[in-house]
Amino acid sequence: MIDRIVSMGAMLLLASLSLQAAGKYGDLDHAGSNVFDQASVQRGATLFVNYCMSCHSAEFVRYQHLVNDLDLSEEEVLGNLAFGDQELSDYLLAAMRDEDAEEWFGVVPPDLTLTARSRGPDWIYTFMRSFYLTDDGWNNTVLEHPSMPHVLWELQGIQRAVTEQREASGGEVRTEVVSLELDQPGAMSPTEYDRAIRDLVAFMEYISEPAQLTRKRLGIWVFLFLSLFTFISWLLYQEYWKDVKK
Ligand code: HEC
Repeated sequence: MIDRIVSMGAMLLLASLSLQAAGKYGDLDHAGSNVFDQASVQRGATLFVNYCMSCHSAEFVRYQHLVNDLDLSEEEVLGNLAFGDQELSDYLLAAMRDEDAEEWFGVVPPDLTLTARSRGPDWIYTFMRSFYLTDDGWNNTVLEHPSMPHVLWELQGIQRAVTEQREASGGEVRTEVVSLELDQPGAMSPTEYDRAIRDLVAFMEYISEPAQLTRKRLGIWVFLFLSLFTFISWLLYQEYWKDVKK
């Protein structure tokens, strides 16, 4: 029995250590997004449908989910978040056909339903803030030479890279990006843009695991039930032991 408990403990310790290791992202900025902030997730949804769904889908999410989970009315979802003759039972599918995307970008833009889990919130947050313009078009410090253009450049403005010549260990000189500078301001200030991306990330975290919102709502009831149950058990305990203790 004891050795079972010890090995369970060791496993839990190992699991938490590897979780910590997985949580390190090198140079990524901390997203600070909050999936339980409903207003933030709603703003993120608006950005997502307006700026991302021309190319990307979230093919496991139906418009109906947004009604149920984000406390929006059917009219709000159909009027503001769905385009054309979409119905609530439809999935959030990209406007672009895969064949066209492949022809234009060389790759089919990946489905974004699970990206917040596969890449992590910090990766997306940093990626969406790290596009910079070069003579050959857009580049990105997180995903080098992406097939995705900077679709939010009108909001963020245009960043350029500050580079430095650095000598690698083999003696070869390489040009490295040391920072990004805003060359031409966009419609948003840098603080506003960061907030918009935080909202977008919060929405992407929500679609990657919609049940987490329900879990939190249920959690409070579970907690109340357990408290009440503990209290009743305590009363029963008093009642049963009253005579024994005498
Ligand atoms: C014009 C089409 C287009 C639009 C619009 C677009 N993307 Fe992309 N996106 C792409 C393509 C193409 C790729 C693949 C990039 C690559 O692998 O080089 C991509 C890749 C990504 C990735 C990386 C996914 C991964 O796991 O590798 C993320 C995250 C992403 N897009 C987020 C967004 C967000 C958020 C928006 C909306 C603000 C958006 N994209 C709008 C075309 C687009």
